Amino acid sequence: MSTYATTFNRPWTCGREYDYVRECVASGHTSGNGPFTRRCEAIVNGIVGGQRTLLTTSCTDALEMCALLLRLQPGDEVIVPSFTFVSTANAFAIFGARPVFADVRPDTLNLDPAHLPRLVTERTRAIVVVHYAGIGCDMDEILAFAGERGIAVIEDNAHGLMASYRGRPLGSLGALATQSFHETKNVICGEGGALVVNDPELVERAEIIRDKGTDRARFFRGEVDKYTWVDLGSSYLPSDLTAAFLLAQLEARDEIQRLRAGVWNRYHDALGGWAREVGAALPCVPADRQQAYHMFHLLMPTPAARGALLTHLRERGIQAVFHYVPLHLAEMGRRYGGRTGACPVAEDVSERLIRLPFFNGLGESEQRNVIDALLSFRP
Ligand SMILES: Cc1ncc(COP(=O)(O)O)c(C=O)c1O
Repeated sequence: MSTYATTFNRPWTCGREYDYVRECVASGHTSGNGPFTRRCEAIVNGIVGGQRTLLTTSCTDALEMCALLLRLQPGDEVIVPSFTFVSTANAFAIFGARPVFADVRPDTLNLDPAHLPRLVTERTRAIVVVHYAGIGCDMDEILAFAGERGIAVIEDNAHGLMASYRGRPLGSLGALATQSFHETKNVICGEGGALVVNDPELVERAEIIRDKGTDRARFFRGEVDKYTWVDLGSSYLPSDLTAAFLLAQLEARDEIQRLRAGVWNRYHDALGGWAREVGAALPCVPADRQQAYHMFHLLMPTPAARGALLTHLRERGIQAVFHYVPLHLAEMGRRYGGRTGACPVAEDVSERLIRLPFFNGLGESEQRNVIDALLSFRP
């Protein structure tokens, strides 16, 4: 049991998850690529408007598939934001590519395209963007920059399912995009993810890479008379049991988004005056972007104020958290040449950011407690 009355995250189910898992077991098809997998893929593909969506064991694995699809080699470079989860860089680094860290914008905390000209080299093969908090990056600038140079754009859309940028769904903008269904995301299945393939030329190899480097998908469609080892690949296919759970969540997506929008708006409406008084900044959602309501974060005026607020909330039974250690300053990032001062915005915000409890089932009275605790705080 948690020592917190209000934890940072609490997994939510709509109820149908259990029926679908039972149905899956009864059907006798519990391994991957069964009917539940295909139903999930159709829904995600419809949301994102992709060419083809493949469920994967995680967003991290979908990012690894991107590295394999682009045939990344040692010496290749991949530009990633420094302010992100490790997988955005690690999935490429394990294939020998070198992550090149870009600083983020101080408002949206998304990769700042103004830094791209300085970071790009002859060896740059991809730019990986992260739509932080499910709020789209400056995609027109990034796509134009990459397009002029023949560099692939990959969207790490772990936070951004159901969000859009200038009317276009997040996940539909890069050649490839990845989704996460980890228990902390809007739509969950414990551990899980998806690869959205937008470039039609990559669809067939994506299927092969997900299926241990075999053409088993073509065999099951009757397109070849046996399946065999045809490419690099790994075991990136989740079980149909996982997909059964996920299907119920995906079908409940409108309800999930309604609940999350409620939580987000209640924080936003209640905290504006207090934030101005204590010098904190609320999330920035540009008017041309529809957000995913993935999280609610505050930027406190100083690292000390962040520490004091975390303690203040903890003493009231409320679990708030912070992230990310900038990748360029992490032990691994330093091995790739990361040094203090290289991404000053990421360095600054990582010490001031705080994430408030945010989950589908955060009801009004429990949230009121959190808000009252915040309103009673002065640095
Ligand atoms: C931006 C980002 N990318 C990738 C991941 C990895 O997702 P998964 O746990 O599904 O591998 C996360 C996880 O939180 C994330 O926040």
